[in-house]
Amino acid sequence: MNAPATPAKADPVARRRTFAIISHPDAGKTTLTEKLLLFGGAIQLAGEVRAKQNRRHTRSDWMGIERERGISVVTSVMTFEYADCVFNLLDTPGHEDFSEDTYRTLTAVDSAVMVIDAAKGIEARTRKLFEVCRLRDIPIVTFINKLDREARDPFDLLDEIEKTLALDVAPMTWPVGSGRDFKGAYDLAHDRLRPFGADIDAPPLQFAGPHDPAFQALAGESVGAQAAGEIELAREACKPFDEKAFREGHLTPVYFGSALKTYGVRDLIDALAAFAPSPGGLDTASRHVDPRETKMTGFVFKIQANMDPNHRDRIAFLRITSGRLARGMKARLVRTGKSIALNAPQFFFAQERALAEEAWPGDVVGIPNHGLLRIGDTLTEGEDLVFRGVPSFAPEILRRVRIGDAMKARKLREALQQMAEEGVVQIFSPRDGSGVIVGVVGALQLDVLAERLKAEYGLDAAFEQSRFEICRWASADDPAELAKFLRAYPASVADDLDGAPVFLASSAFNLRYEQERWPQIVFSDVKDYQASGG
Ligand code: G4P
Repeated sequence: MNAPATPAKADPVARRRTFAIISHPDAGKTTLTEKLLLFGGAIQLAGEVRAKQNRRHTRSDWMGIERERGISVVTSVMTFEYADCVFNLLDTPGHEDFSEDTYRTLTAVDSAVMVIDAAKGIEARTRKLFEVCRLRDIPIVTFINKLDREARDPFDLLDEIEKTLALDVAPMTWPVGSGRDFKGAYDLAHDRLRPFGADIDAPPLQFAGPHDPAFQALAGESVGAQAAGEIELAREACKPFDEKAFREGHLTPVYFGSALKTYGVRDLIDALAAFAPSPGGLDTASRHVDPRETKMTGFVFKIQANMDPNHRDRIAFLRITSGRLARGMKARLVRTGKSIALNAPQFFFAQERALAEEAWPGDVVGIPNHGLLRIGDTLTEGEDLVFRGVPSFAPEILRRVRIGDAMKARKLREALQQMAEEGVVQIFSPRDGSGVIVGVVGALQLDVLAERLKAEYGLDAAFEQSRFEICRWASADDPAELAKFLRAYPASVADDLDGAPVFLASSAFNLRYEQERWPQIVFSDVKDYQASGG
C-alpha cells in the first residue's frame, strides 16, 4: 500500500479510529492485538497482553472463573498512536456466554476488524458477531490469518465470506502460497510485496506485475505460476475496493497475513488509518448529535467492577460522542439530572491506566464511581439527551435466586440491583411480589454472579429453575391496551431494572398463544437500555 493519507494532527475527530476485533475463539484476536500494539509504538508492551490478563486473573477472587476455564471475561480498551491517528481498540470477551458485553461494546465502535483463520474460514461465532455489526452497518476490514500454515484456497474463502455473510469482498492483497510455501501477500493495487520473513520495517519490493521475473524468482517456480494466475483472475473477477460501499457496511476489504509472524499487520493498520471511519454522529431520542459540536456528550456502554481489588472501584466506560472532555469538568447525568465532577477520567494503555486530561469523540475514558453510573447512561454538559442503542437482549436462561439466610434477603436485592446495573445479569421483579428472577444469556454469567455475591457480599446463593423460560419486553402504541394486558397477567408480568414491563412465558407455545390473543402488544427480544426512560 501507499503510505496512508493521514489526517492533520490538528483535527482530533478526524484522527480517531475506534474499533473492535471480532473473531471466533482461536482465530488469532489476541495475537493480532499484540501486534497492532507493537506498531502502535507500545513495543515494550506488545507480547504482554496475555501476560497482563494473567496477572489480572490472580488479582481478584471472582476472576478465578476465568483462570480456571482459560477465558477472558474482561473487556478492556487499548489506546495507541500510529501514522498520526489515535486508535482506540475495544477488546471484547472471547466466550460467547458473555456476548451481551460484546454487543454493547460494538455500540461504541466505528469499525471492526474481522479475523478469520485461513484454514477454517467463517466459523459460528464470527457469523454471529458479524450479524451484530450489520445491525449498525459497522464497516468491517477482514484479516485472513495464519497464512504461515496450510490454508484453504483464497477464492474459496472469499466466496464463503460473500455467501454466508452477504457481504461484498474486495481483496486488497493476495496470498502467494501458504504454509511452508508462503512468500507473502501481493498488493493488488500497486504490484508490491513485502517478502515473508523479511524485517517488519523493510520496504516492500516493487514489481512490474505478477509475471515480473523478479517476482517469479522470489515466489519460486510452482508457487509463482499459480500466484500469477490467481492474481490476474482476482483482478478480473473480484470487486474493486469502493470506499463508500465499505463505509456503508456493504463491502469488506480483505488482507491476508500471519499475526503470529507479524506479517500483513502493517497493511491492516495502514488500511485502518487510511479509510476506517473517524467518529460519526449519533442519534438521540430527540436529535442527531454531531461529533464536532462543542459541548461534550457521551454514553456508558460498559461497567467494569474490581479492576483494582485494593479499591473497590467500579469503572464506567464512557464513549465520547461530541465536544471535548476536560478533566475536572462537571457533567450532567441525564437519567438522574444530577451533576457529577469528572475529576479522574482515565485512559487505558496495554498495561497501565493514566489520568485523561482531555478526551475527544471516539475516545473511551474510564470513570471511577461507586455505583452512580449505569450502562446506557448519557452524560452531557446540561442538555437532556438520551442516546439510543446500547441494547439489552432477552435472556435465554431465567432463574430464581435462593439464599440460605432469609435475613439477608434485602442485602441480596441490593447486590442483584448492583449486578444488573453493571450488566452482569438482568433482573426482573414479578408484579405479584414473588422473588426476583435473574436472567442471563450464557450460563457462565451465573457463575460470575455466584462468585461475586460470595466474594463481595458474603452471600451464598443458589439458582433454581423458574417456571418461566422466555422473557419479552411488552409494549404497545396504545397505553390503555398495554395496561389492560399487564393487568390480565400479574403472575407473568415483571419489571426490569428500569421499570419496563416484561412478559414471562412458560414456553414458546405459551408466548405464541398470547401473541395471537393480543395482536396490539409488541413482544420484543431486544431493548435499548434507556428506551423506557430509566
Ligand atoms: P484468540 O485470541 O482469537 O482466541 O486467538 P489467539 O491469538 O490466542 O491465538 C490462538 C492460537 O493461534 C495461539 O496458539 C496462537 O499462537 C495461534 N496463532 C495466532 N495467529 C497465528 C498465526 O498467524 N499463525 C499461526 N501459525 N498461529 C497463530 P496456541 O498454541 O493456542 O497458544 P500459544 O501457546 O501460542 O499462546
